[in-house]
Amino acid sequence: THMEQQELVAALRRVVADGGWQRVGRTADFQSTCTKLFSEDGQHLVLIRTGEDSFRAMDSSCPHEGGPLELGDIEDLGDGRLVLLCPWHHFDFCVQTGSSSTGLQNQVYEVRVVQGDVYVNTPNQLSLSPDAEPDTAGPGESSPDVAEICPSEDTLSFWATKILRTPDPTEKVRLTLEVQDKWRSGQIKEVGRAAPPAQPSRRDDLTVLQPGRIKRGKGGTQASRVALLHSLANIEQWAIDLSWDVIARFSGFSLSSGEPLPRQFFSDFVKVAGDEAKHYDLLERRITELGSFFGALPVHNGLWQSATDTSHDLLARLAIVHMVHEARGLDVHPQTLSRFAAQGDRDSVEVLEIIYRDEITHVAAGLRWFTHICSQEGRDCLSTFHELVKQHFKGYLKPPFNTEGRRTAGMTEEWYVPLVKPSS
Ligand code: FES
Ligand SMILES: [Fe+2]
Ligand SMILES: [Fe+2]
Repeated sequence: THMEQQELVAALRRVVADGGWQRVGRTADFQSTCTKLFSEDGQHLVLIRTGEDSFRAMDSSCPHEGGPLELGDIEDLGDGRLVLLCPWHHFDFCVQTGSSSTGLQNQVYEVRVVQGDVYVNTPNQLSLSPDAEPDTAGPGESSPDVAEICPSEDTLSFWATKILRTPDPTEKVRLTLEVQDKWRSGQIKEVGRAAPPAQPSRRDDLTVLQPGRIKRGKGGTQASRVALLHSLANIEQWAIDLSWDVIARFSGFSLSSGEPLPRQFFSDFVKVAGDEAKHYDLLERRITELGSFFGALPVHNGLWQSATDTSHDLLARLAIVHMVHEARGLDVHPQTLSRFAAQGDRDSVEVLEIIYRDEITHVAAGLRWFTHICSQEGRDCLSTFHELVKQHFKGYLKPPFNTEGRRTAGMTEEWYVPLVKPSS
């Protein structure tokens, strides 16, 4: 048609003008709702099919904690607006503007369809296959020295491993609180050594998300609050395991001086584990009060990736899990809170406030031990942190930051501002 011709001309003009438009394929290549487009600069995109011939595009890495948006669901809000829901914590991103009701903003890109060809406006080379990506998922180095150790029952590492292998979250919580007690009272004295499992155990009746569905929106109803609390409970379940994993996995860690980690390190992470257990419990109770139960909704299973990626390197573990992910939790707290407050859900607000206060101390613990180890090893804290994040965390850190919450945790701006994408 005439319109299409004009569009083609316009698109071609722009290609010439700024070199930004590029053809990524034919419309027929993009049958699924979401397709990941791999970018040469590592900031991959997700192409979202919103109709026969209409597409949208945004960064595929969720601005919250880097969740895979290409595995998300599309929700139709009913007023013609479509949002992409992140599979990790259900944050919504308007496919048109990239804005989220949580206050976060995702980068969107213009998309044009001209005579069956799909064009995206970005200066970075895009492709449908990840061949440019380094293969990080290779077999990890095994540590035979640890695997052969048979842990004795009265050590912290034995219990850490046992809890990691406990699939039922309620039992996981119970054991965590019991071990925290025994460690504090001195009934468990030794850290010991143990080989944690590669992945913690999970109840096998939990349904895992089937990505790419388009469903009806439920707006600000109770159901959507339950969905958010449910995904937060799921995160807390993983957080319990992350705490026990750092204890068991690095139980035999020694500094370059040959010295082991101080006992306080283990006490701090036992405290973190206990907090996470309490958080799971609070959220699970709240979900039940709201007429649902944990396991009623599908959950995402990709939350162990950062643990696997950093299983060989304690500094990287502290940096990614506690100083990137947990700090991100502080950033989104105000918006999450106001969502519940706006609907008059005071009981949930109270739970979220308790969790928030504890999470500040978790970021602080990560930062304290990161700094301690760096200074023991004569490394510069800031540049080491920046290097590790670039290496292990895909993509830049994105504002908004909860400057005050981060500062309370000891994390001043020089830690994270240099990791924000330079504005172009
Ligand atoms: S990572 Fe996307 S909502 Fe948390
Ligand atoms: Fe927590
Ligand atoms: Fe935490």
